[in-house]
Amino acid sequence: GAAEKGDYKHFMLKEMFEQPDAIRNAIRGRLDFDMGTAVLSGLEFSPRDSALISRVLVVGCGTSMHAGMVGEYAFEEMAGIPAEVEQAAEFRYRNPIITPHDLVVAISQSGETADTLAAVREAKHKGATVAGICNVVGSTIARETGRGVYLHAGPEIGVASTKAFTCQVSVMLMMALKIARTRRMPRHEGEEMCRWIERLPELVEKVLEQNDAIKAVAEKYAKCENAFFIGRGYLFPVALEGALKLKEISYVHAEGYHAAELKHGPIALLQENTPVVALLNDIPGKDKTLGNAEECKARNAPVIAVVSEGDEEIADEFNDVIVIPNCPPSITPIPTVVALQLLSYHIAAARGCEIDQPRNLAKSVTVE
Ligand code: G6P
Repeated sequence: GAAEKGDYKHFMLKEMFEQPDAIRNAIRGRLDFDMGTAVLSGLEFSPRDSALISRVLVVGCGTSMHAGMVGEYAFEEMAGIPAEVEQAAEFRYRNPIITPHDLVVAISQSGETADTLAAVREAKHKGATVAGICNVVGSTIARETGRGVYLHAGPEIGVASTKAFTCQVSVMLMMALKIARTRRMPRHEGEEMCRWIERLPELVEKVLEQNDAIKAVAEKYAKCENAFFIGRGYLFPVALEGALKLKEISYVHAEGYHAAELKHGPIALLQENTPVVALLNDIPGKDKTLGNAEECKARNAPVIAVVSEGDEEIADEFNDVIVIPNCPPSITPIPTVVALQLLSYHIAAARGCEIDQPRNLAKSVTVE
């Protein structure tokens, strides 16, 4: 009801603005600055068991799968463990190869998604160690995985997931940090990671402060029927998630692509009414994505550039710019996705869409 929404017009808007607090709750008591690690009580492995994990398999659907993709980069970069993400239904039906040294991480906000639950059962049956990342306490996936980490993000009502995603990524970073510290990561690097994770709420606040500016960009493009989102590395999953948000709530046909893949097809669709949101934050590969964004511009597609604070050179090249505070590559998906959530929200609002209850969508998909 209106009361729970407070002064906000939609649950989605409220939940986007709740993200600094939601992340604060997700990380509270979980950072150990002395040891430069994370304390996740539901996920205690002995250092020896942790050292024996040879692969991380992340399963989930929708936005949760996108969070898992960010986790994939973090597990590999920080912990040096091979990691893969798989759509939960694909995982369950393709007879996955699982060894006793695999850690299977199931991500689900609701903890009730049918395909993710079935993937958990298959992984357990094949002898993997299975952990859950859920928001809803006592949900089926949380119970069946036995071990795992709750988000503590508070109830998410809007069908389009926002605060669950940023908390899922926050938790995955802590999970990767924890495992990394039982391996090659030195203590000072762990400490630095703790400091960045602790700053996440503040980084998100800086993006939320740009709400009016992002709204102005959104209104400019509210009439488009197609849009592209491009990114690389840690920002590739963010491009997918940005496109998913836009199609879910505004019904604009939006595609997220790896920036390098653009020229293998999608570039044929670019026209002057097809905006491209280019994630040009300062991470490895930025210059390549910049080249791709310039190609879009040369084909008359308007480019909305998402750039790191202080990157005047890139900002000057494009008409529409959204600025993300400086932070390391593994941290930047969180503030960046918040900018894309706001962009989608304002495009949907300008188009007069339902927003909290988009047509054909359900908050929790408990059937196959
Ligand atoms: C539905 C929701 C999405 C969500 C997905 C997975 O499609 O509309 O927002 O990301 O299910 O849900 P889960 O609860 O497993 O995270």
